[in-house]
Amino acid sequence: MPKLIVVNRAGEETAIEVENGLTVMEAIRDNGFDELLALCGGCCSCATCHVHVDPEFVGKLPALSEDEDDLLESSDYRTENSRLSCQVPFTADLDGLRVTIAPED
Ligand code: FES
Repeated sequence: MPKLIVVNRAGEETAIEVENGLTVMEAIRDNGFDELLALCGGCCSCATCHVHVDPEFVGKLPALSEDEDDLLESSDYRTENSRLSCQVPFTADLDGLRVTIAPED
């Protein structure tokens, strides 16, 4: 199974295997990272699933929607590599993707 590397807020890296069909948020949440609140359950309305994506992979991800862009704008920790992880389906070609859980707003 393709791997996703998650860096928590303490800077610790963990590699997890991701089943087909999950979003990056679901993969992180289902592996017990309680720092990623994902309060809205993935409907793009809370921004508590904010991650910073390794620059190497940014170009491989689907484009941001207007809603995602607006929500990210409300974060003090937005960077050019910011994404809402519930809006990123994890596919096999993202094997090795590294994301860092953004600081809490
Ligand atoms: S889980 Fe709420 S915006 Fe992603």
